[in-house]
Amino acid sequence: MSSPGENAAALFAAEHGGPPEGVWSAPGRVNLIGEHTDYNAGCVFPFALPHRTAVAGRRRSDGLLSVTSRGSDGTPHRAGSFPISELVPGEPSGWAGYPAGVAWVLRQEGFEPPGADLVVSGDVPSGAGLSSSAALECATALALLDTVDRPVDGTSAPPLEEVARWTCRAENEFVGAPTGLLDQTASLRCEAAHALFYDVRSGRSRQVPFDTSAAGLEVLVVDTRVRHSHSESGYGDRRRGCERAAELLGVSALREVGTDDLDDALGRIPEPLRPLVRHVVTENDRVWATLDRLLHGAWVEVGALLTASHRSLRDDYRVSCPELDLAVDVALREGALGARMTGGGFGGSAIALVPVAERPRIERALFEEFERRGRTVPRLLSAVPSAGAGREHP
Ligand code: GLA
Repeated sequence: MSSPGENAAALFAAEHGGPPEGVWSAPGRVNLIGEHTDYNAGCVFPFALPHRTAVAGRRRSDGLLSVTSRGSDGTPHRAGSFPISELVPGEPSGWAGYPAGVAWVLRQEGFEPPGADLVVSGDVPSGAGLSSSAALECATALALLDTVDRPVDGTSAPPLEEVARWTCRAENEFVGAPTGLLDQTASLRCEAAHALFYDVRSGRSRQVPFDTSAAGLEVLVVDTRVRHSHSESGYGDRRRGCERAAELLGVSALREVGTDDLDDALGRIPEPLRPLVRHVVTENDRVWATLDRLLHGAWVEVGALLTASHRSLRDDYRVSCPELDLAVDVALREGALGARMTGGGFGGSAIALVPVAERPRIERALFEEFERRGRTVPRLLSAVPSAGAGREHP
């Protein structure tokens, strides 16, 4: 089977009558823990998936950005050609909005992309809460930075933190999804065999060895196939609720409320905002606890933290859905050390920390339970911590 990079290069040659100047790719991610903390200036703990989106690119000199993607049957989907200097947020919409948004941001940041032909191919499941959009944005950013002579593997490379902010701006301001920095940071900065502990407020990060197999464990991803979209209201409502609570509490972000201050804080805000604050404050605390437990190889406790995170997202933040709860409950019942929804929620995927030996049984139980309840059969993936974005070398 060909890789996304090989597919993108082959389709590029067929579409544009010659090889691309380069191929860049970026992974999807799962977030181990630290959900809905990023836009509250808290901590997150993602790792990159082996699933990637690749962009084959070649510069052009007429200021046009042409984007084509490879459909699952291998045929090209031509989204069109757009004059970069005339791009305005929201147009094009659909998947081409992500690469166009990145070109738009780079211009806003003072770069002058000369134009480019881009061909996209990938295997990150879309709408599954695994950051397929961030993978596309990040791979595009790397391709376009090359056209302005700031290749990310060169000496004049912009810092990846900066590229994460640019690609996040593309999603917020061009596509119109009010998301935080988690996904792009993960896609750009994660390393193979590690999870990335990232403190959004301070910008500090730490690559933490994440070797489940040495402990006889693995992270199973359960894509419930319930599709979510972050431009829809639920995500934005939660975010605005957090911002309002921070304002009422006189802090710049909920990150500043510690667990010791939680009861006092809850007493000072109206009832509907309390569960939101409770989730964010306790979740942030769980991210630190997970870091500590992981460094001690205390996997059982890591599992318990994941499950506590799910309960908080389900009961307090209310971003789960019946299928995610079912995936978590079945995995736990069948012997997972912990399980939780991952990503923004309202559908998408759950993760479960499972003993390798139990995996076949857990998988069978998941298929059976979903079928018994008349739900679409989930897709199961192995989440092996993989490399972040970069140039593909043939
Ligand atoms: C989505 C967003 C992220 C983050 C998560 C929830 O994945 O894109 O910025 O807020 O939801 O943790």
